[in-house]
Amino acid sequence: MVNLAILISGRGSNMIAILDGIKNKYILNVNKVLVISNKRESIGLHLAKDRYGINTELIMNDNLSNNEFDEKIVHILKSYDIKPRNGLVCLAGFMKILSPYIVNMYKNRIINIHPSLLPSFKGLHAQKQALDAGVKISGCTVHFVDNAVDTGPIILQECVPVFDTDTELVLSERILIEEHKIYKKAINLFTNDKLKIENNKVSLK
Ligand code: GAR
Repeated sequence: MVNLAILISGRGSNMIAILDGIKNKYILNVNKVLVISNKRESIGLHLAKDRYGINTELIMNDNLSNNEFDEKIVHILKSYDIKPRNGLVCLAGFMKILSPYIVNMYKNRIINIHPSLLPSFKGLHAQKQALDAGVKISGCTVHFVDNAVDTGPIILQECVPVFDTDTELVLSERILIEEHKIYKKAINLFTNDKLKIENNKVSLK
């Protein structure tokens, strides 16, 4: 069984997809769930607590160095028994880069969802980057987190078409629908111990 932490900063629609996936038994082998936000105003944080009755923690980074912030996260994770041997940390719209301190401690146990087909369009505003580049297909990626931004081993991807009439919002919404599906699927593969990483590539066991 895996103890799960979901780290968010905003509305938390991916978090909701994950929580529903656990509730509906689409995602199996999850024991405890904790939701952490670094933003007090995060809608997802309130939804997790009020709608799902999930344990939540607010860890604000305003007056903390990156290391102090990550030390605080590790302290909280461990206090909920989300440890490198039994834990999975899911970044779901978590708009802060984690330092090597936590990434190395939870090596291959932190995953992220990104709204592009990596390695294209890393970083912020991936959907706008895709529109600006004029690509005809974009999509989303679930990947393990390593010590660079949006570069870790890719677990799953899904593509979506890009239309001439798309705005950033319209494309983002089309991608988001697929994000919710592949994030749940990737987590279930992890919690069922189906993923193998070799030479920076992920395959199914
Ligand atoms: C999602 O589109 C996610 O892929 C993106 O933020 C949004 C969060 O939405 N993440 C990144 O861009 C990370 N680089 P949500 O709060 O509704 O899940």
